[in-house]
Amino acid sequence: DKGLKLYDPGYLNTAPVRSTISYIDGDEGILRYRGYPIEELAEKSTFPEVAYLIYAHPMGVLVNALSALSVFHPDANPALRGLDIYNSKQVRDKQIVRIIGKITTIAAAINLRLGGRPPVLPSNNLSYTENFLYMLDSLGNRSYKPNPRLTRALDIIFILHAEHEMNCSTSAVRHLASSGVDVYTAIAGGVGALYGPLHGGANEAVLKMLSEIGSVDNIPEFIEGVKNRKRKLSGFGHRVYKNYDPRAKVLKKLTEEVFSIVGRDPLIEVAVALEKIALSDEYFIKRKLYPNVDFYSGLIYRAMGFPPEFFTILFAIPRMAGYLAHWRESLDDPDTKIMRPQQVYVGEWLRHYKPTKERT
Ligand code: SDX
Repeated sequence: DKGLKLYDPGYLNTAPVRSTISYIDGDEGILRYRGYPIEELAEKSTFPEVAYLIYAHPMGVLVNALSALSVFHPDANPALRGLDIYNSKQVRDKQIVRIIGKITTIAAAINLRLGGRPPVLPSNNLSYTENFLYMLDSLGNRSYKPNPRLTRALDIIFILHAEHEMNCSTSAVRHLASSGVDVYTAIAGGVGALYGPLHGGANEAVLKMLSEIGSVDNIPEFIEGVKNRKRKLSGFGHRVYKNYDPRAKVLKKLTEEVFSIVGRDPLIEVAVALEKIALSDEYFIKRKLYPNVDFYSGLIYRAMGFPPEFFTILFAIPRMAGYLAHWRESLDDPDTKIMRPQQVYVGEWLRHYKPTKERT
């Protein structure tokens, strides 16, 4: 096909990106961060420790949470203050720590502003995720302590969302990084891609879908609409997973933990029944459509009191670790070239200009 002028993939940088950060086996439903299975990290680690594992070392080793935590907290790490020049590896690493450390303060301030309330500064005596809930819910009461079980649930959610290989938004960060922009521009581009309802915005779309279905009795009619391509089953399907998303398994279990604290959302019955019916329906089986990370997360966020417009921000906070790890890996890779995916030209091959009065 003459439109397919294939260059050497290496030259046009269309060869797959080489990375040491995370590994996905979509057929087996496997996800590992630097070799550690996501299930083990969700059960045994904390988000600060996992974020450090993801962004800190090509040979990422788990360090104890305390040192990882202190690395994040600007007050605990004076070396972080005032560094904003973009011209050295050492500065890059400090920028990474500052962004991960401060993203929760910024996000909490946005949420409070959405509710017409003033921002609350972080406390020096709380863990990373505890501090986030403190800033959101304390209303400035310095003795407020977030519920430890809700804090742990959110910490696990952050671990599950921290990194996911070359997904749409991380690829956007890599694209921007390859043109040499500063880190803030690169991650802003990533968050822009994440916001889409087919990507990180899907958890909000799932809640809208479950609310529209309303009850288990309405599921068969909804499923027919999906099979007639009138709409998608949000929270189902994945570019890579053709099996159950391992993160969705952990999140499904976590719904029960959160509901046991804050009360049960009746929509969980619709979600569980919808999953059961879809997983036994030929349309979904044939297309290998399973629940993904977004299918249950929206229910948990709503139960925890977050407004739907905040859901993508809750995805972006932990995903900063992945974006920044890829940003730095891209800059540190001597083989990285400016990204320019290949195209196949299928338009008119050659035409010549005609003055307007000669045109038919
Ligand atoms: C995330 O990539 C990542 O890693 C992303 C992510 C991360 O951590 O960064 O995992 C986070 O974005 C998870 C995905 C969240 N999005 C959704 O839940 C939105 C609903 N899902 C989709 O629209 C869809 O599944 C995508 C966008 C996720 C994947 O789209 P693809 O790659 O086009 O799906 P496919 O090629 O596997 O589709 C195969 C068939 C098609 O039907 P046919 O044309 O072959 O008849 O399955 C159909 C699709 O139309 N299909 C769906 C469907 N998803 C695919 N049909 C109904 N509902 C769906 N959700």
